[in-house]
Parts: sequence; structure tokens; C-alpha cells
Amino acid sequence: VVGSRCPTEQISAQNRLLIKNGKIVNEDGMVDGDVYVEDGIIKQLGRNLIIPGGTRIIDARGKYVIPGGIDPHTHLQFEFMGAVSQDDFYQGTKAALAGGTTMIIDFAIPKKGESLIEAYENWRQKADEKVCCDYGLHVAVTWWSDKVKEEMELLCKDHGVNSFKVFMAYKDSMMLRDNELYGVFDKCRQLGAIAQVHAENGDIIDENTKKLLANGVTGPEGHALSRPEDVEAEATNRACVIANQVSCPLYVVHVMSKSAGSAIESAQSRGYQVFGEVIAAAVGTDGSHYKHSSWRHAANYIMSPPLRDDPSTQEALVDFLVNKKLNIIQSDETAFYKKKEQKFGSSIMTRLPPGQHNMNDCKTHSEENLCSATLINPCEACTISFENFWTFFHDLPGRGGPVPIQCHPDRVIWRTLLQRSTFAKTQLTTQNNDVSQQQNVPSQQSYWIIPSLICPDGTSHHVHNSQSRELSL
Ligand code: URP
Ligand code: ZN
Ligand code: ZN
Repeated sequence: VVGSRCPTEQISAQNRLLIKNGKIVNEDGMVDGDVYVEDGIIKQLGRNLIIPGGTRIIDARGKYVIPGGIDPHTHLQFEFMGAVSQDDFYQGTKAALAGGTTMIIDFAIPKKGESLIEAYENWRQKADEKVCCDYGLHVAVTWWSDKVKEEMELLCKDHGVNSFKVFMAYKDSMMLRDNELYGVFDKCRQLGAIAQVHAENGDIIDENTKKLLANGVTGPEGHALSRPEDVEAEATNRACVIANQVSCPLYVVHVMSKSAGSAIESAQSRGYQVFGEVIAAAVGTDGSHYKHSSWRHAANYIMSPPLRDDPSTQEALVDFLVNKKLNIIQSDETAFYKKKEQKFGSSIMTRLPPGQHNMNDCKTHSEENLCSATLINPCEACTISFENFWTFFHDLPGRGGPVPIQCHPDRVIWRTLLQRSTFAKTQLTTQNNDVSQQQNVPSQQSYWIIPSLICPDGTSHHVHNSQSRELSL
């Protein structure tokens, strides 16, 4: 932890908490019992705990007491393609907390030619003044040179960064060529950092887009047509091959298709060290939105890679998660609110920044749904929402052993079997275009607990910036 800015009086006002009679869930099991938290650290777990007088007690009978979720893929206040994603670090993390996410990892993304360290500092500044929950930063490598190499090293040594994202798409802006990917992956391996990859073939997308525009296909549907599954799967396989050449563990971000998932599975079966994440939107909905009669509706579902038409995609992605071929669920929150008449100067698909809004309900919408459909159990929900993050981003590069339970006291208490409409009740962001809009989720947490605050009933109206920490990963 490089900085904890919780004021002492706030901690001392709530420094002893007993969560009683809950089902305490961790990735390795579930027990009935009590959790005693002192000064933001879990001090005791079990039954008949001896605790000091004056401790605040929460009764969690009939409820799951589960670690707060980690959303390792968000883009708050992200400037991209002439727009800025609308939720800032305050609004976005407030919404995340309301949905049971108690930590996020955003991306510092330098422009081509910009210093990585400057981009990192710029993101720290944006986040530090507003963020309401714990957070960390990945850094993107959008260009390649000896200076970038040096900066990667400094970011790891001096700033606790240990993951770098590269793009195989976004030709002419952030896309790297194969030889550059090789260089970045090699450097990541030397540093013990994780390489993350956005896997889509940028050259093919560029050619397909030109052809579609020439044929008069200019609307949001053209975005998906320009980047079919194969284009994602080809890049995914290529990234796996390149990373394996230099023995670098690879983490494929936002896997959106069956064939990309299969490319990862196949690489794993060949012994490559590859991990992958699924976005909540891909588990919750499909590509039919691109054909919606409302331009604005369709445009708000533009994301890269896109949602797929194949109706078996959702089930296949869940299968990959259940079978541990893919490992984490995240939101890829990038809330560009696309209005035809506004901002983008043009309604042409190539001018629309990709990204969707789903931070609020990322955890509830995906993991609780999967649990209530008995596709996964609550322990597995812990694994994909919390534990795997630590395994890949903290333990894997040899930065210390498993995270002891005392280090992650954030807990969420789930109320079971309560239907709610995600949009109507809990949206706390500036956005009204959540991709999980109008869908029911089976339950809602009744409290979330971060070291300095207990917040009832799934709300986070009282959060503020002083409750956050920037965590060195
Ligand atoms: O469209 C998505 N998924 N995100 C926007 C930028 C990125 O990182 O690809
Ligand atoms: Zn991406
Ligand atoms: Zn992203």
C-alpha cells in the first residue's frame, strides 16, 4: 500500500466490527461463522469469538459474507477518439461500490509518443483526487522504443506497476506490430510483469472498414461487421504464440467470442501460460443490439471486440469460466454516451469511440446470476471475482505468496433471492445506458464494508474520496 488516506477519526469511529452468523465464503470453502474486523483488518474468524465491548455488530444470518469484488478493467475519465468517458473516478467508483466491487484497476494509456511515466502520473492525479475505493493502475504500451523499455522498468521499480497492456487493434493510433509485441512481452518477462493484450487484427479491421464504408454501410452495425470472430481469434492465437516465444505469461483482455476462447484453450493445452477475462456484458447480452432500430441504442453497444451474433456465445464463455480456461469477469467500463446529434461530429461508425457502461452491476449481474443459475457456486464466484486477480497480478510474477486473508478485509454481504431491476434501483453513475439495463439480478448485497466505512443496503451515497487507497500491485 503506498498511501492510505483514511482520516483517523473516521477509522476510530468504526474501528471494531463483528459480522455475525453469516456464511463466510472464500475461494477454498464456505463456513458458517463470524468475522471480526478491527482497524480495517480481519482479526478473527470463527464461532464464539471473544471480542472487546462496544463493537458494532451486523447480523448476517441467511446471507453470504463474500470478499468485495475486484474489477480489473475500467476506463474512467478516458480520453479517446475525441471524447472523454463520462464517469469520473468519483462517480464511477461510487457506482462500483454500490454493486459490491470494492477495488478497481484502471488503465493509464499514453498517447503514441507520450512518456509512460507522465501518463501514469496524469492518471494518478485524476484518480487520487476523486476515487472512492481502493484502486490500482495498469499501464498501456502504445509505442515502442528504448525509452519505453526504460520507463517500463521504472514503473515497476518505483511505482509498483506490474502489468502492461498492448493493442493489436486501433491501427495508426495504439496498435503495435508483431516485432514490437515481441519486444514488450520480452521486457515484461524480464521484469516479472504480466503482459495484457487487446487481441484483434487491426490491419484486417482497417481494410474491412474501408470496404464497408465504400458500400454505404456507415452505422453501428458496420462496427461489428468489420471485426468478425476470426479476426479476434487470429490475433488471440498470434499473441499467445509471440508471448510463448519469450516465455512471458499472457493475459488476454475482453475475450468476446467462442473462437477466441478456443484459441486460448488450445494454447493452454500446448503448455503456454495464458489467462483470459470475460466482460460482464458478453455474459449478459449479445450482438443483436447492433441491429436495433434506434441508432443511439445500437451505438451504445459498440465495443471492441464487439458482442457476437452467435447465440451460443454466452453459454460458451460461461463454460470457459466454469472450466477455468478463462479466469476473471470485469466490466471494461468505458462510458461514452453516444448521441447521434452530439459530440462526435459524425455518426459514422469509425468516429464512434468503443466502450460500454456496466461498472455498477458488473458483479451482481454476472456472478450472482451465474450463482443463482447454479452454474457456479459462491466459492467459484470468489475465484473469478477476487482471488484470480491476486493470483495473476500479484503472485504469479513471484512477488510474494498468496494474499493472507487479513489483507483483504473488504466484504460484501449478499442478501439472497431478492429480485431487483438493476437500472431502476441502483444506478449511481452519470450514465443511463447500462448494458445490463432492464434485466433482473437475483440478489443485492445489503452491506459492503471497506476498512473505514460500512454502507447499508447496496447504496454508496455517503462514500467519499478519503476512503480510498492506491495499491501498489
Ligand atoms: O471497447 C472497449 N472494450 N474498450 C475501449 C478501449 C480499449 O481498451 O479497447
Ligand atoms: Zn481493449
Ligand atoms: Zn478496455
